[in-house]
Amino acid sequence: MCGIVGVVSREEVASRLVDSIARLEYRGYDSCGVATLNSVGLEVRKGVGPVAEVAAREGLKSAHGTFGIAHTRWATHGGVSRENAHPHLSCDGQFAVVHNGIISNHHALRRELLDRGHRFLSETDTEVIAHLIEEIYRQEAPVEEAFVQALRRLEGSFATAMIAAVEPQKILCARDKSPLILGIGDEECFVGSDVNAFLPYTRTAVELDDGEYAVISRDGFSVRAIASREIRKKRAMNIQWSPQSAEKAHYRHYMEKEICEQPDVIRRALQVPQREISELARRMSAAKRNVFVGVGTTYYVALFGQYLLAALAGEFAPALSSDEAGTLGVWDPDTLVLAISQSGETFDTLQALRHAKAGGAQTAAIVNVPGSTMTREAKLVIEQNSGPEICVISTKAAMAQMVLLIRLAAEIARLKGVDRGTASRLAAELEVLPELVQALLASQRVRIRELATRYHGMRSWFFLGRGIYTPVAYESALKMKEVTYLHAEGMAGGFLKHGTLSLIDPQTPCVFLVPNREDRELYDLTMSSMAEVRARAGRVIAFAFDEGNESFDEMVALPETSPWIAPLLHLVGAQLLAYETAVVLGRNVDRPRSLAKSVTVA
Ligand code: AGP
Repeated sequence: MCGIVGVVSREEVASRLVDSIARLEYRGYDSCGVATLNSVGLEVRKGVGPVAEVAAREGLKSAHGTFGIAHTRWATHGGVSRENAHPHLSCDGQFAVVHNGIISNHHALRRELLDRGHRFLSETDTEVIAHLIEEIYRQEAPVEEAFVQALRRLEGSFATAMIAAVEPQKILCARDKSPLILGIGDEECFVGSDVNAFLPYTRTAVELDDGEYAVISRDGFSVRAIASREIRKKRAMNIQWSPQSAEKAHYRHYMEKEICEQPDVIRRALQVPQREISELARRMSAAKRNVFVGVGTTYYVALFGQYLLAALAGEFAPALSSDEAGTLGVWDPDTLVLAISQSGETFDTLQALRHAKAGGAQTAAIVNVPGSTMTREAKLVIEQNSGPEICVISTKAAMAQMVLLIRLAAEIARLKGVDRGTASRLAAELEVLPELVQALLASQRVRIRELATRYHGMRSWFFLGRGIYTPVAYESALKMKEVTYLHAEGMAGGFLKHGTLSLIDPQTPCVFLVPNREDRELYDLTMSSMAEVRARAGRVIAFAFDEGNESFDEMVALPETSPWIAPLLHLVGAQLLAYETAVVLGRNVDRPRSLAKSVTVA
């Protein structure tokens, strides 16, 4: 949460700072600001609202200076106000700071600084950093020393960047339990919360580890340990994502673009080398116990993995929601934990991995964002290479993860000798999935838009499936509630009659994820849940392969495919329904209220 950017260059940087925080807006978007150094000293321009709005109102892009920092905020400490927006200045205006994370001892530090005469202008925990640096600098410590000493006083988590009026053309930055990465350009350097901060300007990145700080300038960078100030050797990495991939192109919203990109994203998931899948499958086959972890969408992806492993490889491998994994998980050296994460930075999932590691468990991860914390902390990593996912709502990343899990489960089944031809059949079926998704997008878009137009006034939605469709039903409901702000519940159809049926009436649309008839048992179970809904006059919207069925009030027709691939088509249908409903309702599609894409705090 919160997006940090810093640029040091030969040219004016304000415009790039603003474009960069706009690209990081999925991390937070309640207020934003920039700080640059120019003839008037350190100049901070900031305000409440999304980046484009604040930039226009406060003239962010016309701030002068060839180096600077910027921030887009997701409020934790202190309400959404201009005063609480970052950057924050020290009393003497010599130091400007941006921060992501939570300084847990900020009350004590604030009291101490107030006693020493500092004046605070905001309610944030961040502001203590600027005053602390100023305080230490006043005692005649050089800027870098003051910065490091201040960092050593901080408890909690931080990614921070600072500029000082007395040391132009330098940015000092540091990380501890919050993400930060450097970008190395030609006679310019960048720092950002993730690689999207600088992707259009450089694809060479340097990862910072927890407990490290860096000094960046036009001439390059140096990294040291906060505790000892020892130099840390760093290797630059090349980011494979194309700079254009973060652009909205001709689409109305990133969510629309990312849904429509899925055929391509599936192809890229299929290009992940088989040796990587096989290595993970080998380790999982050898482990006594496998556990999936993820949270939000990735918990549902994890659950999808649980169903796959049970069905294809005959193995019980539970999926845990990362936020509860600390309580539920039993971690020991016989266990392998597979974490799933788009950002690779989600606090809950990182914590689950760390608990697992501490208990001696093996760790692995499927991650989208290169250079993210999880790619370094998990022992074995599969990078899904889905490209930047900008919309706060995850669509294409989840799709790629599900494709990878199908490949993984098929390989585990093969290694365990319980394959019965599934692996080769699935590989062939996955090959045609991109065309099927394309066909679905082309043929059902208008139909789904029409449903959204007719049903957007309904306040409460249910998404129902059986078997492997259950996690897809959960995920479909999450899409609907995140982007439309309507109540939506995903449920296994069988669960319905154990209480929730009391809510069904003509005002509750129930979206049924109907399997193909080939999947006879699941099909029949789904139809029996549907009968229960119809008996209570609930509206049935079926995503189905049937030609049509009198039990359906409405139908979205999916292109014919096999049982294991089919749920992915249902997912695309549900993503589109959520998207189109949000558009009809006039919601802030890419940045729904109160949400942030990368939840990096507890
Ligand atoms: C997805 O639509 C959500 N915004 C959210 O549930 C997300 O999936 C979750 O926070 C996990 O994020 P991650 O994949 O980056 O770890």
